[in-house]
Amino acid sequence: MNIQKMKKIAVFTSGGDAPGMNAHIRAVVRTCLARGIEPIGIYGGYEGMINGNFLSLNRNFTVNMISQGGTVLKTSRCEEFKTKSGRKKAYENLKKFEIDGVIACGGDGTFKGAHALYEEFNVNIVATPGTIDNDLYGTYYTIGFDTAINTATEAIDRIRDTADSHGRIFIIEVMGRHAGHIAMDVGISTGAEFIAVPEVETDVEELYRRIQNMREHTRTIIIIGEGGVFLGANELSLELKKRYNLETKYTVLGHIQRGGTPSVKDRVLASHLGMGAVDGLINGKTDVMVGRIYDKIKYTPLVEAWRKKKKIKEYMFELSELLA
Ligand code: F6P
Repeated sequence: MNIQKMKKIAVFTSGGDAPGMNAHIRAVVRTCLARGIEPIGIYGGYEGMINGNFLSLNRNFTVNMISQGGTVLKTSRCEEFKTKSGRKKAYENLKKFEIDGVIACGGDGTFKGAHALYEEFNVNIVATPGTIDNDLYGTYYTIGFDTAINTATEAIDRIRDTADSHGRIFIIEVMGRHAGHIAMDVGISTGAEFIAVPEVETDVEELYRRIQNMREHTRTIIIIGEGGVFLGANELSLELKKRYNLETKYTVLGHIQRGGTPSVKDRVLASHLGMGAVDGLINGKTDVMVGRIYDKIKYTPLVEAWRKKKKIKEYMFELSELLA
């Protein structure tokens, strides 16, 4: 692949969709056009790369896209791409469509695939963090995180009204796979009495003690991030019933957190990263993630981005305990 004379850049979205992915695609397309490069869309993530679903994109394609949730390029979790033969097929298509550089928007699974394409076939590839989980190192936020926490906060505010009216204990599960960034931010933003993140084993005894101490409150809100020892809200609710005969209600917010109109922060982040990705490729960057730290574009080696998991800051734990 020739970096000097980059004529065609392909963009795709992969893994779980995230609000802001369309704003990102729009930014990639428009930056390419501004730099005299033909933008190509690969439909359906790595699956589309294997099947040759490539389409030339233009400015018209991007009209009204900035405010749409989901991803117009579609996405997939592709098992075939995890095999060497699958990746070979994908590479053959990149060659066939004369792609000089690739932009892969997704989470850690997407990044592993992008790194393999670089290592095995020397593909010029940069990845952009598109996941609601915010679990990647090298960027303060990932595309979709801000919208997801706002959506979850709005939903939990509604639950609080009914919890308050009945004086009930609610356990609400939020997404994040094995990362507690959504749980922590949403727990603080909703004034939760207890936040359980998957990174830390939940001390059920301590949780029970806290619930008892809080009974002068009319209601109790407990936020739990998925992927921890108790796996979820249902299991934690059953455990409290089993150990203490305590009645709780549980709600799993689920995929509602992934849909909807992207927030302003996500649109701006997605746009900035789109420009950063195209310009990175033009300037010879490859096998890196394009992130944003303190409003500046930062390129981090792909392996570091998924291996050095972003940790929840210590002060967030202190803050949540102090304010609960
Ligand atoms: O990575 C984004 C995410 O929404 C995680 O928070 C969640 O665990 C997972 O994807 C769910 O994936 P799927 O939609 O494939 O079930």
